[in-house]
Amino acid sequence: MSGFDLRPMGALDLDRAAALHSAAFAPLGERAWTRQDVAELMASPGVGGILLSADGEEVGFALCRVAADEAELLTIAVDQAHRRRGAGRALLDAVIARARDAGAASLFLEVGVDNPGACSLYGQKDFQTVGRRVGYYRRGDGAPADAIVMRLALTRDGFRRGG
Ligand SMILES: CC(C)(COP(=O)(O)OP(=O)(O)OC[C@H]1O[C@@H](n2cnc3c(N)ncnc32)[C@H](O)[C@@H]1OP(=O)(O)O)[C@@H](O)C(=O)NCCC(=O)NCCS
Repeated sequence: MSGFDLRPMGALDLDRAAALHSAAFAPLGERAWTRQDVAELMASPGVGGILLSADGEEVGFALCRVAADEAELLTIAVDQAHRRRGAGRALLDAVIARARDAGAASLFLEVGVDNPGACSLYGQKDFQTVGRRVGYYRRGDGAPADAIVMRLALTRDGFRRGG
């Protein structure tokens, strides 16, 4: 878990974030976000990004939107060569903290049923399945994949609550 540096994303990070997104999601058959896509999202109300560096190299990022008492994880990606070392968990922890600090009561996300690694990461953090979107992800020429909608209940003091 140690050795990571986490900081808020800024305008100078758009190219790096787009490159990380492309490298992470193109192999899944998803459309890679361009610099413009990331810039437009970052300019949207309530959206913030977190960039993670390992040993001085920027290897992961996450984007999150907070609106009123609901937050949404928009994306999370870690460079392939740096996976399974806790970077994804560290980014998710930072997103959870940001959402909680902003007053959100819930953090939502969508994950493909064909993405067991990400599902495992979210399960570790006690996200609960609250819905399913059939055929939500277009996987290139392949069959579309369903999305699982997950929710983590948040409180400001870090204790979970039901409901
Ligand atoms: C999902 C992703 C962000 C995880 O990043 P990561 O840095 O490898 O994650 P971590 O090392 O913090 O893993 C934390 C836990 O998640 C689970 N996990 C992560 N990747 C996994 C995999 N490929 N297979 C099984 N479990 C996995 C494990 O439980 C892991 O804990 P462990 O290593 O102690 O067993 C990364 O694989 C990625 O960028 N994938 C492509 C983009 C993507 O799918 N994003 C999510 C879209 S919803």
